Amino acid sequence: MHVPVLLEEVVELLLGNGGKVYVDCTIGLGGHTKRILERDPEAFVIGIDRDHHTLEIAEDNLKTFERRFSLYHANYADIDHVLQMEGVSEVDGILFDLGVSMLQLKSSRGFSFQRDEPLDMRMNPEDKLTAYHVVNQYSERELERILREYGEEPYARRIAKAIVLTRAKKPIETTGQLVEVLLSVLPYKGGKRHPATRTFQAIRMEVNRELESLRMALEKSPNYLKPGGRLVVISFHSLEDRLVKDFMRKHLKVLTKKPIVPNMREVRFNPASRSAKLRAGEKP
Ligand SMILES: C[S@@+](CC[C@H](N)C(=O)[O-])C[C@H]1O[C@@H](n2cnc3c(N)ncnc32)[C@H](O)[C@@H]1O
Repeated sequence: MHVPVLLEEVVELLLGNGGKVYVDCTIGLGGHTKRILERDPEAFVIGIDRDHHTLEIAEDNLKTFERRFSLYHANYADIDHVLQMEGVSEVDGILFDLGVSMLQLKSSRGFSFQRDEPLDMRMNPEDKLTAYHVVNQYSERELERILREYGEEPYARRIAKAIVLTRAKKPIETTGQLVEVLLSVLPYKGGKRHPATRTFQAIRMEVNRELESLRMALEKSPNYLKPGGRLVVISFHSLEDRLVKDFMRKHLKVLTKKPIVPNMREVRFNPASRSAKLRAGEKP
């Protein structure tokens, strides 16, 4: 259900120095971890995900590798606590595959603009902030800022204004209602990208505090890498990629002068991979 992106490239880079213990900070459905465990029969993976529905499926998908992985329901920003609970002080590799999984997109939690669902978008259903709150409570200025910053949306001002005008009459409760507001103010001539794409991305990043979590996790990661240990990150957003690039330049030996991107065959087979960028660094 979720096709792991840049699978062989990730595993090649992570296992490059022949380590044994890895952290998969975004285990999702376990696609990358499964390949790590297949490739190195002595590898052990500590898997983290903030979505417990996802963890249940990962556990099932990995059941043939019993005792070679442990799973934690946590935010990867708390990688230090996870490693403490696992009793591990240093690892050979840390992986981040950012964004949402196909399972989340297809869940009924409001990640997709293609169905009419309650405005939720929480990766961890126990978190407090929901998309409903962002859409119905944030000020017009705040909405405009997140749309511009996280969505890189050229019509941020126009959309923020339309949201505020609409919700003054009646709260915007579902993804379908939000899409209607967007379509009423955005030009759409049936192009490749649906006009709701950027807005949904921006709200999701705000609801899940995605950049803050990534920043915190990156800062902590090198403390837990052995010398020669590797940090591998797949990002799908230019702000994330910039953060990762700058961080690696400052703190690690960069292994990917330019980001690795999926080839045409992968994009054709898995269109969701098209904006992926893979960067890797090694602890000196
Ligand atoms: C693209 S999917 C990972 C897919 C996985 N590599 C696979 O092959 O199945 C991203 C996953 O990261 C999780 N995630 C996103 N932000 C997180 C965070 N701050 N802490 C922990 N998990 C996070 C999401 O819940 C999602 O399951």
